[in-house]
Amino acid sequence: MTAKILASAHDGAVDVVFEKVSKRFPDGTLGVDNVDLTCDAGRITVFVGPSGCGKTTSLRMINRMIEPTDGRILIGDNDAAGLNESELRRGIGYVIQNAGLFPHRNILDNIATVPMLLGVRRNAARLEAAELLERVGLDPSLGRKYPYQLSGGQQQRVGVARALAANPPVLLMDEPFSAVDPVVRLDLQNELLRLQRDIGKTIIFVTHDMDEAIRLADHIVVFQKGGTIAQADTPEKLLTQPVNAFVRDFTGDSGVKWLSLMGTAGLSISREFLSTAHSGSTHTDRWRLAVDEANRAAGWLRPGQPHGTELIPCRRTFVIGADPMRSVLDSALLSPAGYAVAVDADGVVLGLTDISALEPSISAHRERVNV
Ligand SMILES: Nc1ncnc2c1ncn2[C@@H]1O[C@H](COP(=O)(O)OP(=O)(O)O)[C@@H](O)[C@H]1O
Ligand SMILES: [Mg+2]
Repeated sequence: MTAKILASAHDGAVDVVFEKVSKRFPDGTLGVDNVDLTCDAGRITVFVGPSGCGKTTSLRMINRMIEPTDGRILIGDNDAAGLNESELRRGIGYVIQNAGLFPHRNILDNIATVPMLLGVRRNAARLEAAELLERVGLDPSLGRKYPYQLSGGQQQRVGVARALAANPPVLLMDEPFSAVDPVVRLDLQNELLRLQRDIGKTIIFVTHDMDEAIRLADHIVVFQKGGTIAQADTPEKLLTQPVNAFVRDFTGDSGVKWLSLMGTAGLSISREFLSTAHSGSTHTDRWRLAVDEANRAAGWLRPGQPHGTELIPCRRTFVIGADPMRSVLDSALLSPAGYAVAVDADGVVLGLTDISALEPSISAHRERVNV
C-alpha cells in the first residue's frame, strides 16, 4: 500500500541502520557526531539522554526532516538519501508531543490523512480509521469529534493511530507521552506495548525519562553531550553494567528501576483483607480494603472501622500481569495499610499483596549486580 520501503520489508518490519552519521547545522553546531547504530526490525529502540544531546536530530534524519551532513542511514535495504522525500515521510509513522493533530479536521479525518494522500478513497479510509481507533483503545464514536474535545491522553492515542494509518514499517516517536500526567502516561505506555505485540513495527522512541526507556525498550541508546552515543544496550545490561560514570548517573537509582523490568504475572495475592458491604472480612483488627458492588476499590477501612463509614482513598492500584513490579512498590507505599492492590484491566479488585512480593525481584537483581 505504501512506499517502496514497505516492499522491501519481508515481514512488515525493517532494520534502521546509522552508518557514521553526523549532522553539522549551518551555524556550526555539531548536533550528531559520527553515530553508528542498528535499530532492530520489529523492536522498540529508545533514544534517551539529557536535553540537547542529539536525540531529535537523529530521529528526524531517519525520515529526512533533517538531512545528515555525513554518513548514511539505511531503512531496510534502502539508503534513505536515495528515496523520494515525501514518499519516505509518508512511509514512516511520526508521533510527536501533544499529538500535533489538525485542529479543524475531525478525528477520523485526522487519521485518514495519509491514506487519502496515498489514494485510498475517503469512505474506505474512514472505515479503517474507525478500526484504528479501537486498536489504540478508543471508542470509535470519538471519530466524529474534534481534537479540542478530547483529553490529552486521548489525543495522543489518536496521534499513534494516525501514524499507523498507512501501515508503515517504521514508527518514530519523539517524546510522545511527555506532556501527559503520570497515570495517563503509564496507560499510554502499556497500550503501546500491547499494540506492539500485534503490529511488530520497528519503533524508535525518544525520551529524556529513564523510567520510560526501561519500561518500553528492547534496546536503549544513551546519548550524551556532543551528539555521541555513551552506551547502546539492553535495559538489563544498562542497569547492571553501565560503561562509565555518566551512564551510571543517568540511569540513576538502578535498583528501583530494575523493578520496572520485572513483570507481575503470577504474583500471589490474597482476598483475605477485602471487605464488601455484605460479606465483610472478619479481620476487624486489621486494615481492610472496601470494594463496591462492581468490585472496584472504594477505599481503606482502619482497624475496627465498620463498613459504610468514611473511607481513606485508595491512591494507587496495579494491573496484575500488565504493570511492572515497580507499580507494586508504588501501590504498597501509597497505601495507608501497606498493601498493594491488584486489579484486572477493568479495575476490578483481585486481591492484595504486601512488599514481601518484591523479594524475588530484589534477589534476582542482587544476583545480577554481583556477577
Ligand atoms: N536547526 C538547528 N540549528 C542549530 N543547532 C541546532 C538545530 N537543531 C538542533 N540544534 C542543536 O543540536 C543539538 C542537538 O539537538 P536535539 O537533537 O534537538 O537534542 P535533543 O533532542 O537530544 O534534546 C543541540 O545542541 C541543539 O541546540
Ligand atoms: Mg528532542
